[in-house]
Amino acid sequence: MIIDGKKIAEELRIKIKNDIEKIPGNSRPGLTVILIGDHPASQIYVRNKEKFAKEVGINSKVLKFDESITEQELKNEIENLNKDLNVHGILVQLPLPDHINQRDIIETIDPRKDVDGFHPINVGNLSSGNDAMVPCTPLGCYYLIKKVLSDLDGLNAVVIGRSNINGKPMTQLLLKENCTVTIVHSKTKKIDEICSNADLIIAAVGKAKMVKSSWVKQNAVVIDVGINRVQVDSKSKIIGDVDFDNVKEKTKGITPVPGGVGPMTIACLLENTLKAFYKISGNAPR
Ligand code: GUN
Repeated sequence: MIIDGKKIAEELRIKIKNDIEKIPGNSRPGLTVILIGDHPASQIYVRNKEKFAKEVGINSKVLKFDESITEQELKNEIENLNKDLNVHGILVQLPLPDHINQRDIIETIDPRKDVDGFHPINVGNLSSGNDAMVPCTPLGCYYLIKKVLSDLDGLNAVVIGRSNINGKPMTQLLLKENCTVTIVHSKTKKIDEICSNADLIIAAVGKAKMVKSSWVKQNAVVIDVGINRVQVDSKSKIIGDVDFDNVKEKTKGITPVPGGVGPMTIACLLENTLKAFYKISGNAPR
């Protein structure tokens, strides 16, 4: 089974749109995205975030700044958004220019408005099993997994990649569901052997077609977070971390790239913005 992230994301966006339409009065969730410089991939991500936010009824705004913005100026902008009652979600698009300390910037965001789930308060709450803003990519993966496997109790899950954006929070979500989780990374020995015992593989390393068919157990579920731009017949193409064509036959479910995790990530950002709105405004449905 190919897990259709595009369709599942669309269903989630429809649900979010319906929930937003039910909010009494005129107040609506507000999301502000801060974009610095002209990183080409970031421009595309931010454009998509804005488009889908508007589509579901979120008041979305993009603040663009030149690369030359100082760390203090950026912090002041974030402080203003923290105080702005119409803004419920703040997302600072990464990467940031080298002269700006990413950690200090993330820590300036009000944790309740941290729709990326990168603030240490949210990271801590997620790892303690408390209510938290969960980073959008692993949250999207989690929803896709739950479409194929409703009960994750006792499953062997292997997370490939130990990033703060995906690998670590993914591990926390799977632990909460009673999986036995192994994280493998660039220094891990015999990754193929470890993967071959997995009921569930989440690949997020940024290495095109790294996960081979021989690594994958029959009937495993494979989630591919990779976005790798490659040249095929002089054309630029996006492919995942999984050797999709050879792996797919063996799996119980597998996500394609594109059309798998990517659309879910944005839908989860919208969901986090609605969650922040409910929390901050006290306007949650009963
Ligand atoms: N750049 C690439 N992925 C992300 C993400 O999930 N959040 C932010 N803020 N920036 C990114």
